[in-house]
Amino acid sequence: MNLRYLLFATAVSVTTALFSSSPDSGTRSLIQNSHARDVVNLDGTWKIIIDPFENGYYDYRLVPTDALYAQDKDLTDPTKLQEYEFESDRSLNVPGDWNTQMDQLYYYEGTVWYRKRFNYNPDSTKRQFLNFDGANYSSIVWLNGQRLGSHRGGYTPFCFEVTDLLKDGENSIVVKVDNKRQPNGVPTVNSDWWNYGGLTRSVTLQEAPSTFISDYRLTLAPGLTDAIGGYIILDGAEKGGRQFTVKIPELKGEITGVTDSDGRGEFIIKKKPQLWNPESPKLYDVWLSIADDEIKDRIGFRTLTADGTKILLNGKEIFCRGISIHEEAPYPGGRGWSREHAETLLDWAQDLGCNFVRLAHYPHNENTVKAAEERGIMVWSEIPVYWTIHWEDADTYANAEQQLTDMISRDKNRCNVMVWSIANETPVSDARNIFLGSLAKKARELDSTRLIGAAMEKHEVAPGVLTVDDPLSEIIDLMSFNEYVGWYDGTNEKCDSVNWTFTVKKPVFVSEFGGGAKYGYHGRATTLFTEENQEDLYRRQIGMLERIPGLAGCTPWILKDFRSPRRQLRGIQNDYNRKGLISEQGQKKKAFYVLRDWYEKLRGARK
Ligand code: GCU
Repeated sequence: MNLRYLLFATAVSVTTALFSSSPDSGTRSLIQNSHARDVVNLDGTWKIIIDPFENGYYDYRLVPTDALYAQDKDLTDPTKLQEYEFESDRSLNVPGDWNTQMDQLYYYEGTVWYRKRFNYNPDSTKRQFLNFDGANYSSIVWLNGQRLGSHRGGYTPFCFEVTDLLKDGENSIVVKVDNKRQPNGVPTVNSDWWNYGGLTRSVTLQEAPSTFISDYRLTLAPGLTDAIGGYIILDGAEKGGRQFTVKIPELKGEITGVTDSDGRGEFIIKKKPQLWNPESPKLYDVWLSIADDEIKDRIGFRTLTADGTKILLNGKEIFCRGISIHEEAPYPGGRGWSREHAETLLDWAQDLGCNFVRLAHYPHNENTVKAAEERGIMVWSEIPVYWTIHWEDADTYANAEQQLTDMISRDKNRCNVMVWSIANETPVSDARNIFLGSLAKKARELDSTRLIGAAMEKHEVAPGVLTVDDPLSEIIDLMSFNEYVGWYDGTNEKCDSVNWTFTVKKPVFVSEFGGGAKYGYHGRATTLFTEENQEDLYRRQIGMLERIPGLAGCTPWILKDFRSPRRQLRGIQNDYNRKGLISEQGQKKKAFYVLRDWYEKLRGARK
């Protein structure tokens, strides 16, 4: 094996999710491509108990009695005092936030207990895992009254091994979900999006052999296009010294190897795949197997580098014609979670002429990332280290790092993910620089094949001269920042007169710009919240963007109006941030066409 391949084999970073550190965590490292192992989908109607005073978890002295509601007892003996019962209580659909399912829960921030009973006959030769794609914000899970563990972070998956805990017949899952904002949380107590609470993504049960393929990664060797390398990780008693095979039939690629004593095997398949790109998003069926386990994935291959102020995809300069997206279901609103929600949002993005989406401000559900990959849409993915995080709190850092690790672990095989972003609009301080410096280092350790980004903030260094003066720009790979010239900073005309300068030579990426407009509200271009004002702002912003040296992409804020408790102007906002180019009812505003025309021009120019 020549030196380059050897170097690559060591360069392939181990993206193994860390076991959560907290003693109660109970969660285990994520299973890669877990839904390929689904045996029971637990989505649907769950019974609930709304518990604002944590009655199901503490007694009146605030001593935890967490097993109370988790016992899921039916009220069968009227002579015995019992002041709760799931069976006779209300229901919610899972997945889905509670805020938009029950009027009484629209603003609710607190605990809702969920209960699902299901019949199952476990195969005693297999292992079983209970998987949550996401729940906002913190959860504790019990199975048949047995506490499995807890998880925090509203947008990353978590799972528990439940082998030997499942009954042959009816089983009961109880989940305590608490969406109260935490000052030392990630995000902290202030954000500009609705605090949708609940089991907001799917819940499934998986089965796997006693020793199975728990993780893997395939990627092109850095700088090479004729070698696919990676690793496979087994979990189970017989993980060491096991023969494994990796096949890519369409490339007639096949390799076998043997795992080391830790159950890890590395490999290189010397084949030259057709490279993925937005115009031709080629994906290959990949089969990974050991004697009694096999898993299939669809994986694309491409090279991604930053060269000065250029982003190079497969060695060619690209311009990221992007748009920012919050994870809100089009039309009904509320937290998005389905493939259908993703397809509608990505249809709108492609109508706009986008080849790139910023999935703000937290990891979106897997459906969106996979649908974008199949469509040739590049992705900026981020963790909600947003605004005034508690930089000096070690537990806050551990939480942020765990969310970063889980985001990268889940999507490391999605070739369309180009940027892992570690922060959004975070005030510069020594503590913040240390916190983010550690996160950036961790991101690179976990994945050295993607760009590390952050949405920094701009500064006016002299009248009409704008730049980004942030030490983070020395650490991350993009000169990425949010700017609201013409909205929060001056009027639309200011765009015409300002110019930008940067000392750090990296690809410039405007991760937010925009302004608000209520669909159907018309007037003079100087009247705020009219479609004409937003249209005029976009025209002038584009004129300014075209003067930015080294601009490699932008993700205007934002595709669709979205709910936020900060947007209270009755008659205009009604709890909606109106910077969308499309209303929450799917109506395209005049500015939509301004951006679409520009992207059309850019697409033509770069052919
Ligand atoms: C900020 C922030 C967004 C917010 C936007 C706005 O840049 O990053 O989350 O929604 O501004 O004020 O609309």
